Amino acid sequence: MPGQDSESATASLHLVEYLKAIAQEERRVANLLPLAANENRMSDLARRFHASGLSEQYLLGTLADREGRAIMVEGDLMLNGLTAVSDLEAHATAVAKRLFAAEAVELRPLSGVHAMMCSLLALTDPGDVVYSIDPLNGGHFATRHLLQRMGRASQYLPWNEDHWTIDVSALRTEVAKTNQKKVIFLDHGTPLFPLPITELKDALGKTSLVVYDASHTLGLIAGSYFQCPLTEGADVLQ
Ligand SMILES: Cc1ncc(COP(=O)(O)O)c(C=O)c1O
Repeated sequence: MPGQDSESATASLHLVEYLKAIAQEERRVANLLPLAANENRMSDLARRFHASGLSEQYLLGTLADREGRAIMVEGDLMLNGLTAVSDLEAHATAVAKRLFAAEAVELRPLSGVHAMMCSLLALTDPGDVVYSIDPLNGGHFATRHLLQRMGRASQYLPWNEDHWTIDVSALRTEVAKTNQKKVIFLDHGTPLFPLPITELKDALGKTSLVVYDASHTLGLIAGSYFQCPLTEGADVLQ
């Protein structure tokens, strides 16, 4: 139909314009030196893996579930086992264990917020109190909203303005008032200094759980340029 032809010609024209605009944006960004972790650029090697068509495929279960099978049958699903990808995952798991002093590693979360949801849902129950960093002090804007939607009680950690860190003694006094399980979620998005993880564990006792969100510092931790949260007593590093 004539109307359709002109519509698809207009769409192609728009597509060409979008491709040009994206190429221009790529050239502009390539000349910047980003100082925030979320604007980091991946290495060409890492990009090579991401660009693989295999990154669009399902690969269900854990390494142990897959047992190196080339074809996987799960219930009424039959899927490719992608054994080369499982081998890469096994290698990455071993490297991550070494770099972060971790007992166990899970590589499946897709982003920082996805990891946040996995940790909070797995480690807390409805009604539990979770302390996180007030966004005014650098905490992540989504943490409180996610906690509230999950039925958890969200509290902000007391903050020492002079030293720009958690006020551990004020927190100790606050949590002593109840016997409730204590979960601390350290979601700092502009970390200038290490956080007092050992002091937090000492103050809250062994039954407390400390989750360290390293969305901005994971590379520095891997390279031993920053505190090592798991060695200092954090229960989860994500
Ligand atoms: C502390 C913290 N956690 C989580 C995130 C979100 O990570 P993502 O965008 O990968 O979901 C950010 C983003 O900057 C962050 O600062």
